[in-house]
Amino acid sequence: MRRVLRTGPVRVCVAFAALLACAACGSGSGADLAIDAIDVPAGDEGVAPDDAPTDVPTDVPPDVPPDVGGASCVGVAGTAAWPTDVSTTFLRGPFLQDVRDGHAVVVFRTALPVADEGCLTWGVAGSPAGEPSRTCVVPDTFGQYEIRIDALPPDAEITYTASVGATLTAGPFTFRSAPAPDRPQRILVVSDLHATKANTAAILSKIVSAALADGVDFALTAGDHVGQPTDAQFDDLFDGLRPLLHRVPMFTTIGNHEILSPTYFEAFVLPQADPPDPGAPELYYSFRRGNAWIGVLDITDWQLSWGFGEPTGQVLWLANELDSEAARSARWRLLVIHEPPWGRNWAPCNQDNPHYGEPALRDLLVPMARDKGVSAIFSGDFHDYEHGTMDGVELFVLGGAGGGLENVECPLPEGLPTPWKSVEAHHRLTVETGCDALSVVATGIDGAEIDRVSVPFVGR
Ligand SMILES: [Fe+2]
Ligand SMILES: [Fe+2]
Repeated sequence: MRRVLRTGPVRVCVAFAALLACAACGSGSGADLAIDAIDVPAGDEGVAPDDAPTDVPTDVPPDVPPDVGGASCVGVAGTAAWPTDVSTTFLRGPFLQDVRDGHAVVVFRTALPVADEGCLTWGVAGSPAGEPSRTCVVPDTFGQYEIRIDALPPDAEITYTASVGATLTAGPFTFRSAPAPDRPQRILVVSDLHATKANTAAILSKIVSAALADGVDFALTAGDHVGQPTDAQFDDLFDGLRPLLHRVPMFTTIGNHEILSPTYFEAFVLPQADPPDPGAPELYYSFRRGNAWIGVLDITDWQLSWGFGEPTGQVLWLANELDSEAARSARWRLLVIHEPPWGRNWAPCNQDNPHYGEPALRDLLVPMARDKGVSAIFSGDFHDYEHGTMDGVELFVLGGAGGGLENVECPLPEGLPTPWKSVEAHHRLTVETGCDALSVVATGIDGAEIDRVSVPFVGR
């Protein structure tokens, strides 16, 4: 969906600060932006400086009703292995977006914009025989078609074909509509894909094949889909994801390498926060899908709130969202943000200018997550696998889906939660929002299990 960039000196300054805090991100990736020369600001050494505000109010409002999360849980996560065939008719897609709440969006883009309408011909398995439904739209200026269909029953098989004019056709492919409110799900979670033809061939292709075999319900990313937000790199990304996204939707989180670029917002169709960010409505958002509530965040407002000692838009929004009926009635509440609260350090262990994650998130986000029943925070930015527990919240770093890897032999910083696991490997996470437990399995692209974390559901 096409979006305008936010403007104004404060926004630009803070967005730039977010970049500063991630100056060495992807330092092992040859395609990364040339921002390595920027110094990390003082105070990012892993412990908040003495004068840093740590008392930004994030308390639960006094009139929030009792937490009733996850009273019922029915069904099983995932599905049978997905087929693997692909269509290369279109430059991008057809790929699935925003499949939730009885609707779905199918997106496809031609190599060059054409004047013809694009159409989706679709039907629900098991419906009475008859003519399939057909919805047509005109393309945007980039040749992208975004076709939304509504009133889908839960957990239904939808078969669709995408076409442009009389000659371009892709499909049929089948996907599943969003599950009923209390069903567990199996989720592919990846980050730092840094898509190039080489990275997708060597790394992402293996992750996609495994996720199809896993029968995942949907995919979730934690940012840095590309090294530079060019159309060419996004083309490589969608080419690498092609067999997966014909069949399952992907919800994305913006990373510092997307640098708030219009190409990111033009590529994806995402939910929007209520109220949305005024400059970029898809910048952060939440959604309820099955038995999970998921908040997708951007770092900017957290750094701004931490720096000025007053909660800004997104921080206030999230506190309210976590008190919403959608969040409180979910068995699992999960958060995704590109930059992690804690990380081991950038490669190659620069001790003169270390970076151990975001103090703003340690001081603001983790306490809010602890107080409002969030079980896990998923992040990227550091190109490895890391896991530890802080204030009862599971912290995962999963930046291993394409970018050059960090050196996990760096000395551990003071204050890092212990035990803290870190593994230098390209990998994926498979997350199951089960009835009895939240299960997170990290698997290397060689198929070897890296880690397994289980969080039992103990009621609320
Ligand atoms: Fe990265
Ligand atoms: Fe990053």
